[in-house]
Amino acid sequence: MKWRQASWDEKLLFELSSYDKPTFIVGDDEEFRREVGDLLSILPKNIIRSEGPQIPNLSEVEVVRHYIRLSQMSYGVDLGPVPLGSCTMKYNPKICEELANDESVTDLHPYQDEETVQGILQIMYLLQRWLAELTGMDECCLQPPAGASGEFTGALMIKKYHLDRGEGFRDEMIIPDAAHGSNPASAAMAGFKVVRVPTSESGEVDFDALKSVLSSRTAGIMLTNPNTLGIFESRIVEISKEVHKVGGLLYYDGANLNGIVGIVRPGDMGFDIVHLNIHKTFGAPHGGGGPGAGVICAKGGLVDYLPIPTVGFDGRKYFLNYNRSRSIGRVSQFYGNVVPLVKAFIYILALGPKIREVSEIAVLNTNYFIKLIEGVKGISIPYGKGRFRKHEVVISFEELLRDTGVNAEDIAKALIDRGVYAPTIYFPQIVKEAHMIEFTETETRDNIEFYARTYKELIDIAYKDPSKLKKTPENTSVTRLDQGLANHPLTRCPTYKFLGRLQKK
Ligand SMILES: Cc1ncc(COP(=O)(O)O)c(C=O)c1O
Repeated sequence: MKWRQASWDEKLLFELSSYDKPTFIVGDDEEFRREVGDLLSILPKNIIRSEGPQIPNLSEVEVVRHYIRLSQMSYGVDLGPVPLGSCTMKYNPKICEELANDESVTDLHPYQDEETVQGILQIMYLLQRWLAELTGMDECCLQPPAGASGEFTGALMIKKYHLDRGEGFRDEMIIPDAAHGSNPASAAMAGFKVVRVPTSESGEVDFDALKSVLSSRTAGIMLTNPNTLGIFESRIVEISKEVHKVGGLLYYDGANLNGIVGIVRPGDMGFDIVHLNIHKTFGAPHGGGGPGAGVICAKGGLVDYLPIPTVGFDGRKYFLNYNRSRSIGRVSQFYGNVVPLVKAFIYILALGPKIREVSEIAVLNTNYFIKLIEGVKGISIPYGKGRFRKHEVVISFEELLRDTGVNAEDIAKALIDRGVYAPTIYFPQIVKEAHMIEFTETETRDNIEFYARTYKELIDIAYKDPSKLKKTPENTSVTRLDQGLANHPLTRCPTYKFLGRLQKK
């Protein structure tokens, strides 16, 4: 039980509330009425409350304790590792939080005159330049608010680029079968037909299959490198040459940049457009849908297609630059999500050239974990046999399922019971019974060893008494959910109480 969150049956505030005890209704008090009487007489009758608001009747201490108990029931990266593959859930330095939450940032308003916001514009300008440098691109726009939004922006840029060249017939976007679901979704939303290419046994894009689908209809290819198996596409330069030869463009999904940041750059691999999940590689926390930033960068003539505005500098002052001849327009309100951008700025500023060590340690951690678990009966590491992984690894419980009936989900739930946060499961879809594990550079050797030990103990239990793993988790506030019900759109409700009703009987 290393990092387990608390578990108890916490009631909702409305359930904790009791109207049997005295209630204070604003405006119901004699003295209060005397003091504000004049004011009340000039207010329109229909806005004056005749009875107390329908809020729970609780004292301050009851409310504070309720929220403190709730906070202890949740698991976060400040409590223990969150090794969600593809999510890069690294520890977020508190200095980034503190500075980004300073009033000098939070009190700014996007309608302020440019002269009065030179500081934040300078931060955004420098961040654009640093990210361009780290990716090998010429310019960046900070606007898209998430990785998927960056992808969609990139797909729209590719579309407009071909249209402007009179090549609107390029309607195919090539995407490997290991890709994140947001890649084909973004391409389809931008109007492309998605052409799927398989992954070869080596864990890389099947090069011959790729060559066979390239044609005059190819608009581009969307790739992440290292890919979702944690494997570096060693033929990326050849891939880039082949795609460019038929007039297509290369789009880099930056979700896995943590595996290479400061070591190699997508621009040098041949990519034309890149999005960065600022909330992964550059430390701003994410989860539950945000807040994030999916900065989009481009090189060569493609910079003309970036969204507007970007931040410019004329040698004297910083300004919002709307002057971009072929821009696809705006993709988000104002300048995107500024707070995670400020955190990323501080993160990069603090690390400087040492940012390379982020990748080196993340890669070391993952490969150390592999050494601890490889060869264990019941699991395998499919694709790229014996190859080093970058920042993440995908293991399969196919053998365990065959031998014992215990599947990847059972193991994930049992990990939670043991006080360790489960990894990403059943992704990428090309791996059966998958666990996708990513420790990031911020985890200690001790934590990684504990994780590996826990896996081994659970596999041991699976072989001895599989029924023990079918009911997990049992030590949590909410036990196993009925996935059928829980995934139904009508029953997707965030309140823990409601989730309780979905528990498996
Ligand atoms: C490989 C990959 N691409 C794209 C995305 C989408 O990024 P976001 O969640 O920021 O929209 C993710 C998210 O996890 C991802 O793992």
